Amino acid sequence: MKRTCYCGDVNEDMIGKEVILEGWVNRNRDHGGLTFIDLRDREGLVQVVFDPATDPKAHEIAKKTKPEYVLRIEGIVRRRPEGTENPKLKTGNVEVVGKRIEILNTSLPLPFKIEDEIDLSEEVRLRYRYLDLRRPSMQKRLILRHRLAQAARRYLTEQGFIELETPFLTKSTPEGARDFLVPSRLNPGKFYALPQSPQLFKQIFMISGFDKYFQIVKCFRDEDLRADRQPEFTQIDLEMAFVEREDVMEATEGVLKAIFKEAGIDIETPFVRIPYKKAMDKYGSDKPDLRFDMEMETVTEVFEETEFKVLKEAVEKGKSIKALKVKEGVKLSRKDLDDLINMAISEGAGGLIWARITEDRKLQSPISKFLKEKEITMLIEKMQAEPGNVLLMVAEEWEKACTILGKIRLFLGEKLNLIDKDRFVFCWITDFPLLEWDEDEKRFIAVHHPFTSPMDEDMYLLDEDPGKVRAKAYDVVLNGQEIGGGSIRIHRKEIQEKIFKLLDIKEEEAKIKFGFLLEALQYGAPPHGGLALGFDRIVAIITGSHSIRDVIPFPKTQKAQCLMTGAPSEVSKKQLEELFIKVVLPKTKK
Ligand code: AMO
Repeated sequence: MKRTCYCGDVNEDMIGKEVILEGWVNRNRDHGGLTFIDLRDREGLVQVVFDPATDPKAHEIAKKTKPEYVLRIEGIVRRRPEGTENPKLKTGNVEVVGKRIEILNTSLPLPFKIEDEIDLSEEVRLRYRYLDLRRPSMQKRLILRHRLAQAARRYLTEQGFIELETPFLTKSTPEGARDFLVPSRLNPGKFYALPQSPQLFKQIFMISGFDKYFQIVKCFRDEDLRADRQPEFTQIDLEMAFVEREDVMEATEGVLKAIFKEAGIDIETPFVRIPYKKAMDKYGSDKPDLRFDMEMETVTEVFEETEFKVLKEAVEKGKSIKALKVKEGVKLSRKDLDDLINMAISEGAGGLIWARITEDRKLQSPISKFLKEKEITMLIEKMQAEPGNVLLMVAEEWEKACTILGKIRLFLGEKLNLIDKDRFVFCWITDFPLLEWDEDEKRFIAVHHPFTSPMDEDMYLLDEDPGKVRAKAYDVVLNGQEIGGGSIRIHRKEIQEKIFKLLDIKEEEAKIKFGFLLEALQYGAPPHGGLALGFDRIVAIITGSHSIRDVIPFPKTQKAQCLMTGAPSEVSKKQLEELFIKVVLPKTKK
């Protein structure tokens, strides 16, 4: 007795034929002396009807079944009687007349119904994840995830990439997060780190001559969690030798095209490229959402000779005055503007200046009386503002001013309904700075990671003004989310050592942490570069999911816990002893 087809695949071609189905009771009901069971499997539902007049034994058993019982049913497919078709169901024109039925297992009453249109707390969903995953929407998402991964694999293999594995028990690879550590029983007091990415191994593959590498691989990062972050997540990781930025970007666009095509979405390549500085200047973000066009400008020069105290002081202190133009300004009430001021302040701005452009091209604004005629005209001109527009201005240090208005831009995009949620708008962000100054640690840190190559034309700045050096790095952004990042790497030992020095990584420390890389770079390392795509984020965007937790079968909560298994958990004393580990808990406050 073998299953002949999935419940969801029963169709009109099978009318008159016998089928054997296996699945779960979605719903059962008695009606007019007959018993109906909607049997469900991963492909969908089919209605099975049991008639006591023709099949009394089967009917007797069918009557006893309850939701989520596991059944095997043998029956004959027939057209549904006229008027009883269900157009909402793929199998809605047919039904199966149940001849034989076997209960393979029973089920306890459920904590929630297996259907999509129920309001469930995430806590309950994750606690009973095996039931949550039975819901049709979750089945669809995870099956699509599988297909998208296969599409990526197929495309990259066709393009000559080789899928190679890298270890999970390894040494720390710095990607800016904390490591998950694994103690080594055989090496008391020593620890492996779970990889934050396969970065160093894929570079080693290039040195070993494997040229084009890829891997669909788990990465582990102990960082604070958000809707788009998990402690373990999946990357589509690439590396190529003898390439420049353009080659990696082209390969990435190719694989994204293949993934989206599998989901039935045609995307246009190449994607627009925006240098980091311009992205910050125009959109106030290095991951701009380009589904709507609200841009900002620098208007510092308009106020260079202003007598309005706040702006005068800002200009004197070398701050930037940035202005965001809201074309739909008429939709913003006075209260909305007050809320925006509070939002800017809570983001760290000293304040937010708003100005409405009136019909006679003047400013209606709390500060208009302090401004000269000339300043108003210049401002309107610079912003190409029209009557009805609202200008929002912040005077802060450049990056801060950009970021604050960038957040307001995003907020207004949502509030004013400017974002077309059906669109997929990609871009590349290029020319990132190589290093950024960490005020707390009083040292430079790598913006991407320490293996990223400086731009050739900026090499001289490494000695003169390291903060100004741009990197051969690129991020790929989709609908305001960073879905991938990569770079051309340093392939010369001297430069790698120089970067470590700039990052204040001492020679001894560099040797301990990355000695193997520095050594390998001396044995004929080819020029190389690559990128990694955040696969969970891509699947979440394609499926319109609010969080990547909805496209990961067994995700962790905000507190990095698995509510189903109870991980992380305490371990036995014996296990700890074997590992030479003693747990010292923090003192709890009374
Ligand atoms: P990066 O750190 O930018 O680059 O990671 C690549 C992409 O992975 C996704 N991502 C995450 N997704 C879910 N949860 C997380 N915690 C998380 N962290 C990152 C993002 C990101 O763009 N080794 C380099 C790649 C390279 O240089 O080739 C790296 O890991 O979408």
